[in-house]
Amino acid sequence: VISRNFSTSVARAAIKNITVVGGGLMGSGIAQVSAQTGHNVTIVELNQDVLDKTHKSIQQNLQRFAKKAYKEKPQEGENFVSETLSRISTSTKIVDVVQDSDLVLEAIVENLSVKHKLFKSIDDVAPAKTIFASNTSSLSITEIAAVCKRKDKFAGLHFFNPVPVMKLLEVIRTPQTSDETYETLMAWAKTIGKTAITCKDTPGFVVNRLLVPLLAESVRMLERGDASARDIDIAMKLGAGHPMGPIELADYVGHDTTNSIINGWHEKFPENPLFNPLPTLQKLVDEKKLGVKTGEGFYNYKK
Ligand code: NAI
Repeated sequence: VISRNFSTSVARAAIKNITVVGGGLMGSGIAQVSAQTGHNVTIVELNQDVLDKTHKSIQQNLQRFAKKAYKEKPQEGENFVSETLSRISTSTKIVDVVQDSDLVLEAIVENLSVKHKLFKSIDDVAPAKTIFASNTSSLSITEIAAVCKRKDKFAGLHFFNPVPVMKLLEVIRTPQTSDETYETLMAWAKTIGKTAITCKDTPGFVVNRLLVPLLAESVRMLERGDASARDIDIAMKLGAGHPMGPIELADYVGHDTTNSIINGWHEKFPENPLFNPLPTLQKLVDEKKLGVKTGEGFYNYKK
């Protein structure tokens, strides 16, 4: 009986209207995937210029996707794109849009005080039912939630780049996240076509907690001169079955991102040698050789 009541309450709490705060790399992907799967999405940004760019990039992504998925039926493809876009609206005033929101998902700059300011500004305004979530990669969900009263309705929803392609969603529970919030988010993950795993609120959750030390150890191998970048990458692809080598992957992720994650963890957990700062990464960041996105990192991507 309990389980039947519970699933009814979850069904009632189902997520339909979503506010995505931050329309950058991750927010635009999250908005796209949510709208593609029938959710109404409002993207909130700092100004209209960014919103216009976000909207345009979602449109281009959808068109690229439709061209492949509806190869034989271009009219259906066009309908898919326009229907998906019709479910996306934009705003610069979060307080106005959270009224109808079942879920507010934050994907703004990775800075605790900026995230605090955001959630504080909407905690008293959003309806009691609204779930708040953060897409943070390296901050503690519990610490972000600390400024909110609705700690039972706060969780982490950690997506992977590129969001429309990567199948995984990490659902992070803090000790205060309620069972109902957790179940609602796990069910929602399915509706957007992701496979969800559950993780406690620990640094890096599952994927980054294992991946960042791997990248760091690979860089330390390079620093010691044990093997070349190319050989490390070939070794892990052919010997461990990884689709990308760790050095290639570090270039893809961006050295600014990995460097700030490692430095942040080192500050918090100075006794853990896996999180020791990496002089080589710092040097690449100082030289603005951030990887694929700047055309150069460990490898050179300029034609
Ligand atoms: P981004 O820099 O591409 O986008 C952030 C956007 O947030 C910018 O467009 C900025 O104008 C906007 N913004 C900043 N403050 C705002 C505010 N107060 N209200 C509304 N909009 C605001 O950053 P990205 O890469 O999309 O990352 C966003 C979050 O997602 C971060 O917390 C990051 O840790 C997390 N994340 C990033 C991943 C990645 O591969 N880049 C992967 C998984 C999580």
